[in-house]
Amino acid sequence: MMEKHHIEVMIHEEVIDARIQELGEEISRDYAGKSVHLICILKGSVYFTCELAKRITIPVTMDFMQCSSYGAATKSSGVVKLAKDLDEAITGLNVIIIEDIIDSGRTLAHLKNLLAQRNPESLKICTLLDKPDRRVTDVKVDYTGFSIEDKFVVGYGLDYAQQYRNLPYIGVVVFD
Ligand code: IMP
Ligand code: MG
Repeated sequence: MMEKHHIEVMIHEEVIDARIQELGEEISRDYAGKSVHLICILKGSVYFTCELAKRITIPVTMDFMQCSSYGAATKSSGVVKLAKDLDEAITGLNVIIIEDIIDSGRTLAHLKNLLAQRNPESLKICTLLDKPDRRVTDVKVDYTGFSIEDKFVVGYGLDYAQQYRNLPYIGVVVFD
């Protein structure tokens, strides 16, 4: 059940587009002469991954992965279940994990460890949003779109009970 709420715009579409353009240029520069393999973390990162990939000017390949945290009781253990693994091996590839938002950092810390064991040439993390105040597990983030306050946000792939992923902007859920 969703509580009564409304959405307030936090980051406008034009601002997000401009920032993703910058990230695309930065990644293209950092990996000049190479190619990158983007790993999109389903489902929230789909919108960001597509927009970012369009703005990278070096060769890009992509794969998809889905994780789900266990219930609240076991979440503190940092156990993250793999709901869908990659289709292809990442051996020798320049991998960038693409996330929608980093909150506690548990999901990414776990994923990074998992993928590091598969011998990529390099492994970096790119997130659209970061809530640094919420960090529980230390994880190095290489590319960040926006650092935001500790508020529950939706849009641009992020959901509230599976809704609002399709909003073209980032909005805050305000409970009435
Ligand atoms: P964590 O960094 O392991 O705590 O988990 C990050 C995940 O929590 C993200 O991939 C989102 O699915 C979810 N999440 C965290 N904060 C928000 C938010 O403000 N809105 C929507 N989903 C969120
Ligand atoms: Mg997510």
